[in-house]
Amino acid sequence: MKGVICVGGMGTRLDPMTRVINKHLLPVGPYPMVYYPLQTLVEAGIRDIILVTGGNNAGMFLELLGTGKEFGLAHLHYVYQQSALGVADALRLAEDFVDEDRCVVMLGDNIIDGSIRPYVEEFERQPAGAKVLLKHVDEPRRFGVAELAADGKLLRIVEKPKEYIGNYAQTGIYMYDAEVWDLIRTLKLSERGQYEITDLNNRYLERGLLTYDILECNWSDAGTPESLFRATLLVREHNIVDANPNMPKLAEED
Ligand code: G1P
Repeated sequence: MKGVICVGGMGTRLDPMTRVINKHLLPVGPYPMVYYPLQTLVEAGIRDIILVTGGNNAGMFLELLGTGKEFGLAHLHYVYQQSALGVADALRLAEDFVDEDRCVVMLGDNIIDGSIRPYVEEFERQPAGAKVLLKHVDEPRRFGVAELAADGKLLRIVEKPKEYIGNYAQTGIYMYDAEVWDLIRTLKLSERGQYEITDLNNRYLERGLLTYDILECNWSDAGTPESLFRATLLVREHNIVDANPNMPKLAEED
């Protein structure tokens, strides 16, 4: 299993903070945002990880993370997304790296206070296809939302639905088999000019190959001022740092 962390994009919803700084380098509690998804993948046992960056400060990720030694990794890999064409386009750039393997993709602004290991293990037992992790949210319009039938069957995922279709957002944690590369090539640009991860997931769904789990732990994205604040509270109140002995060491306080 390989890991892909998406740390590109323009971060426009955090302007002016993101005018000169890549969103994923902003602080969330004591660490830069990217530390949390990286730690989440490492904790799940994933050792081969690529960061897809783009926009501002791409070189800073190398300076900050280097080989990933602080996280116990032997190597970290990086690739640059020339134009901000969406998450599915960012993922496409990881094709050579992931190759015939399966991958867990995590958006760099997603922060959780638990482990994804059980879900990854379940996906490893799944014969083929993809898996998404859902979470109940109060403001579904901000996310890709899963429409679920009364019996729990996943009917479709709608990106930023204008009409209410439910409260289960798809988080930014996705798992794919090696068919993903062919499916990405079938995607069309969305109205907002992006190759949407939601369209990719719906391709799997149409083939009956998309499973889901409800993420049990707390989760927040951090792409707006409000959610960035919430992510910071999550890190603090749920003690993500102390609960994670593998988080890189912090400077000692005087
Ligand atoms: C992206 C996805 C969306 C998902 C969200 C999770 O949205 O497009 O489906 O619910 O991440 O963080 P974005 O933050 O790019 O608007």
